[in-house]
Amino acid sequence: MKIVVIGGTGLIGSKTVAILRQGGHEVVAASPQSGVNTITGEGLKEVMAGTQVVIDLANSPSFEDKAVLEFFQTSGRNLLAAEAAASIGHHVALSIVAIDRTDNGYFRAKVAQEKLIVASGIPYTIVRATQFLEFLRGIADSSAVGNVVRLPTCLFQPIAADDVAANVADVAGAAPRNGIVEIAGPERAPFNQIIARYLKAVGDPRQVVSDPEALYWGGRVEERSLVPLGDARLGRIGLDEWLRRSKAAA
Ligand SMILES: NC(=O)c1ccc[n+]([C@@H]2O[C@H](COP(=O)([O-])OP(=O)(O)OC[C@H]3O[C@@H](n4cnc5c(N)ncnc54)[C@H](OP(=O)(O)O)[C@@H]3O)[C@@H](O)[C@H]2O)c1
Repeated sequence: MKIVVIGGTGLIGSKTVAILRQGGHEVVAASPQSGVNTITGEGLKEVMAGTQVVIDLANSPSFEDKAVLEFFQTSGRNLLAAEAAASIGHHVALSIVAIDRTDNGYFRAKVAQEKLIVASGIPYTIVRATQFLEFLRGIADSSAVGNVVRLPTCLFQPIAADDVAANVADVAGAAPRNGIVEIAGPERAPFNQIIARYLKAVGDPRQVVSDPEALYWGGRVEERSLVPLGDARLGRIGLDEWLRRSKAAA
């Protein structure tokens, strides 16, 4: 099967491409560097030729509210138009758990991306993942004032990029669901505890506190605002195993 992975050079994209190639598929790792740009439209028509499945793993270069919304809307429109013209049989996209019940600028942009997919008429599956373990440092840094990392009082269930890629590849090889599949890490715990365990393990001395008034990317969250409410597929790699693998790879 010919599969195009948009954002095939990114964190999840590169892992997904490797899994699919190992599975014997013909895979194009598409990105602006390889001449496929979903914002300008460059290379989209050409890359669709003979393609059965398109996986959208692109991400915005800027996370500023307006820029990220514009990125996912423009990228989604251009990509889905090219797919419709080529009669693509399955569009797979990676989204985020809880984007429709938790408010921040990035989540609003992902909601806009999902709406374009549903309205496109192209058979689709949306994979909604929780936050990546690879993102923990970024979360700690963005929530820190001096030596204190202040986090909202909520539950957290991060997933390793390897588990995300395995699930995306699996979904791409199955029939379109015209719906959502949720995936999450194997451990659910208070946000502050997970970040504190992570910082301690990497030798970061910053103190972590749980604060009901703290915001998540500028938005208010409640106990279950970032975790799946229903059944989710669980990854295999918890925080300790992920830390072990990260240290071994360094
Ligand atoms: N971070 C999280 O916790 C989380 C959780 C759930 C879901 N997600 C979603 O996961 C997806 C993948 O994230 P990631 O962390 O793997 O992203 P990433 O590492 O930042 O990679 C982004 C990819 O998008 C490509 N790209 C950027 N602009 C493009 C354009 N105009 N046309 C085509 N490709 C373009 C990049 O290509 P270049 O390398 O050439 O720039 C790169 O391959 C995103 O949609 C994100 O919303 C993230």
